[in-house]
Amino acid sequence: MSQRGKFATGLGVIAATLGSAVGLGNIWKFPYVTGENGGAAFIIIYLGCVFFAGLPVMISEFVIGRKSNSNAVGSFKKLSPGSPWYLIGYAGIASAYLIMFFYTGVAGWVYSYFFRALRGDFAYATPALTDDIFTQTISTNLPPVIWQLIVLAVVGTIIIAGVEKGIERMTKALMPVLFVLLIICCARALTLPNAIEGVRFLIKPDFSKVTSATILTAMGLAFFKLSVGMGTMLTYGSYFGAQQDLPATAIKVALSDTVVSLLAGLAIFPTVFAFGFEPNSGPGLLFITIPMVFSKMPFGRILLAAFFLLTSIAATTALLSLMEVPVSFLVDEKGMPRWKATIIAMTSVFIVGLTATLSAHPDALLGKVSILGKTFFDLYDYVSQNLLMPLGGLFIVIYIGWFFGRDNLMVELTNRGNLDNHGLIRIFTIVVRYISPAVITLIFLNALGIIKA
Ligand code: PHE
Repeated sequence: MSQRGKFATGLGVIAATLGSAVGLGNIWKFPYVTGENGGAAFIIIYLGCVFFAGLPVMISEFVIGRKSNSNAVGSFKKLSPGSPWYLIGYAGIASAYLIMFFYTGVAGWVYSYFFRALRGDFAYATPALTDDIFTQTISTNLPPVIWQLIVLAVVGTIIIAGVEKGIERMTKALMPVLFVLLIICCARALTLPNAIEGVRFLIKPDFSKVTSATILTAMGLAFFKLSVGMGTMLTYGSYFGAQQDLPATAIKVALSDTVVSLLAGLAIFPTVFAFGFEPNSGPGLLFITIPMVFSKMPFGRILLAAFFLLTSIAATTALLSLMEVPVSFLVDEKGMPRWKATIIAMTSVFIVGLTATLSAHPDALLGKVSILGKTFFDLYDYVSQNLLMPLGGLFIVIYIGWFFGRDNLMVELTNRGNLDNHGLIRIFTIVVRYISPAVITLIFLNALGIIKA
């Protein structure tokens, strides 16, 4: 078996972990899902799900990963031999695949927007033009598929090189730049005429629009955002050093990730209202609004290109962590060399991922195929985000709360007695034993219509 990797420094851990969490979820998904679900009320429920479900799952995954020093499947086999807990790991690998099927396609749209922005396609953008360009981007079959292949080639190359160092360094340098650009975007968006409408949409809750499906969506989004419930954070946790403070790391990542999502919302919604777009325009929201934000600004073309470049990078680092789930499994459990594991993962994602990319628009090749009332694109998204990840998360907190062992847990959370965080641990224990399982289960039962909230 090959030597397992490790992140070199504490800062590297934060960069890589945040690199996994921050991605298309913040910049693309969070705004459009918030838009489709009515704004502020949805955000409040989302925040509740982050803190009472997503964050405890993240800490639990770090604990399992670091303790076992193994991948999503191997970790449970090592810690609880002979039990069926390892099935959580297989479900995680399935989620990682489902997410990659559509995520690589959307990342391809973002890559292509970088080049379009550089070329000046949005120099004289109007709402109608940005709408047209987006439709063209996703409905023309071959180009989006080629972009998807390019994304996979980039991700695969970095994974094969195993350049944790390169990735660590890259994310460390670029995440702050993404932050700054988002703030510029917000400043511009907030000074547009009618911007206040957008702000109101984000801060004035209207709970009358909230249904049980909305709550399930908020929970799924929280899991998706934090990359939890499917083994990514577990796998990354297995690369953490013995000194890493697990709860503090998870709290930092969850908070920073949430700030990035809210900033994206603050850049997008004022623009939506200023230019008369619909907040519920769906997956195209980012692509039609952001070019408008920059279109009438000094250096707009360069800033727009920079924005899509950084979004491409955010998407790429998130994809690295997704692909690491099956790759570390194949390397650890099947004794495969890293390059072979990566090629297998890449090829399978490409072949099935085509069905997502080709169904993102009704005019695309598979755009009219429907399975259980959903396109391939929506199906992969729905099953991973609203079913597998929250279910995975449920089993992970139950495992940590009831089966992992109190002493083991103390050792991991205090780094063998070196951290003085007993108050936090007491709260965490109650949360993973009772609160998170209850919250996740109730949201499921409510969505299934078995109980009524
Ligand atoms: N958290 C990432 C995002 O928001 C997506 C992701 C999900 C990454 C699951 C890894 C695992 O874009």
